[in-house]
Amino acid sequence: MSILLTGIGQLVTNDPEADDLLGTITDAAIVLDGGTVAWAGPASDAPDADQRYDLGGRAVLPGFVDSHSHLVFAGDRAEEFAARMAGTPYAAGGIRTTVAATRAATDEQLTSHVSRLVEEMRRQGTTTVEIKSGYGLTVRDEARSLAIARQFTEETTFLGAHVVPDGDPGEYVDLVTGPMLDAARPHARWIDVFCERGAFDGDQARAILDAGAAAGLRGRLHANQLGPGPGVQLAAELGLVAVDHCTYLTDEDVAALRDSGTIATLLPGVEFSTRQPYPDARRLLDAGVRVAIASDCNPGSCFTSSLPLCIALAVREMGMTPAEAVHAATYRGAQTLDRDDVGALVPGRRADLVVLDAPSYLHLAYRPGVPLVAGTWVGGRPL
Ligand code: NIG
Ligand code: FE
Repeated sequence: MSILLTGIGQLVTNDPEADDLLGTITDAAIVLDGGTVAWAGPASDAPDADQRYDLGGRAVLPGFVDSHSHLVFAGDRAEEFAARMAGTPYAAGGIRTTVAATRAATDEQLTSHVSRLVEEMRRQGTTTVEIKSGYGLTVRDEARSLAIARQFTEETTFLGAHVVPDGDPGEYVDLVTGPMLDAARPHARWIDVFCERGAFDGDQARAILDAGAAAGLRGRLHANQLGPGPGVQLAAELGLVAVDHCTYLTDEDVAALRDSGTIATLLPGVEFSTRQPYPDARRLLDAGVRVAIASDCNPGSCFTSSLPLCIALAVREMGMTPAEAVHAATYRGAQTLDRDDVGALVPGRRADLVVLDAPSYLHLAYRPGVPLVAGTWVGGRPL
């Protein structure tokens, strides 16, 4: 059953062959067939289809790709947020509060919580989400966190190296690279490390990523979030597809990202929620570094599930143009997950799309905080 969506005031295709970054087409139409895009172009050239919907001049974009989230947890840390807004700085140690609540929760409680957050994301236009473990930090709790995440996405990431929960750090790294990795592996595609003061240093991060690679898991990294550090250059040296946060960067870090092609994933909701300085996206883009945007939805440093909010922050606070920010939250997000089936609306890609109650993508930054997502389609079906 093919479906023709017509009356599209502005279509963002992200066609890499187009002259403009977003491959925009005005007065457009798109044909969806069997869950993928069959055709996209000017409405005047649209072919026939079995069904037809008129979108009344609304804008249509590729579904957002949220390449960084921590949705498997219990409890909340609203009081910690309130203390931060009163002047207490954010520190990695707050993770342990969520670890205790997560270990105490049942599988059913964790699953229904993830389900609620994924739904919340979908209502805001996210059609692909990466979900990390990292609040279990025992063999059993990391494995069950990943098994639960797997029920919602293929893009699951083992983050046993989120923080050392207790005891000797060397022994904990041995646990993460040994029995915990063995238990996590069947449920995970990626492995991640929080490489930061108060969490794991560069040598530990390298050992954990090497062990993950030997077990068939591809690496990603949390790095340079709370201060300068070795993480960004390690990610570049290892040729990781993405390194996330990138708030504190030296010129050498920027050069390493440019030369390696490792994508810098910026998480502006974190700086909003921690009152830290925002990363400088303009500096990265002007240096030729590829930049993605994700939510980092988690109970500690940033409890937003909204990529529209992150796009608005990226434009207002990080020096990105609206087009760059939309591209970063769609096409680049897909690239960080090594996915060429999502992130664009060109023939052959999955028919994952967002319909905005607005005439153009500019409204995502122009009208911050307004629920503009009128519809989210996944695999050619409206939710
Ligand atoms: O990406 N940085 C490490 N992990 C999360 C925060 C986790 C927490 O505070 O619970 C982040 O910001
Ligand atoms: Fe994170």
